[in-house]
Amino acid sequence: MKDIMIATSNKGKVREYKSLLEPLGYTVHDLSELDPIEIDENGSTFQENALIKAKSIKDKCNMIVIADDSGLEIDALNKEPGIHSARYLEGHDYSYKNKVLLERMKGKTDRSARFVCAIALCDETGDHLFTGVMEGKINDQAAGDNGFGYDPIFLVEQFGKTSAQLTMEQKNSVSHRGIATRELLAYLKGEK
Ligand code: IMP
Repeated sequence: MKDIMIATSNKGKVREYKSLLEPLGYTVHDLSELDPIEIDENGSTFQENALIKAKSIKDKCNMIVIADDSGLEIDALNKEPGIHSARYLEGHDYSYKNKVLLERMKGKTDRSARFVCAIALCDETGDHLFTGVMEGKINDQAAGDNGFGYDPIFLVEQFGKTSAQLTMEQKNSVSHRGIATRELLAYLKGEK
């Protein structure tokens, strides 16, 4: 039996990884099975933080470990919220966070931004990183009810819609997480 530990206690993430990995014959575990552990995500990139998480958990369990880290970089705001995306304006909901970002972007001509997702995997062969990037623009207003987080303000130019206006299928086909996950699956299937 092949076991994989997902270094998260986010049930939504666990469900998503299960749907991807169980068909490949993996049994998927998550942090709720381990003693609580404090991880200091003090890296300066998504990749470093994903690796820090995966390695810390690898020390605690004898199986393949996967950890991911993602966020939104806005060029005109010095790549904010970046690696702090989850904690940006902590305590406020995303409709407020998005409103603040739109306010800060008022009058900016450079509206380029990207979502980045880094997935780290530690197995018996070592550490592996898979990165996906979705380039786009910060829209001038929030639009759409699908997705989560910063999706309503992120314009995906090839669809002419915000990522909150895309179906799950459309978003997965171009998203940072979709790209990184397909790389991860190719590795696990032995294709890479
Ligand atoms: P983490 O990868 O769980 O640390 O989450 C990073 C944060 O980045 C999330 O809480 C969201 O704020 C943001 N984020 C990452 N991916 C997306 C996305 O696909 N849409 C909208 N926001 C995202």
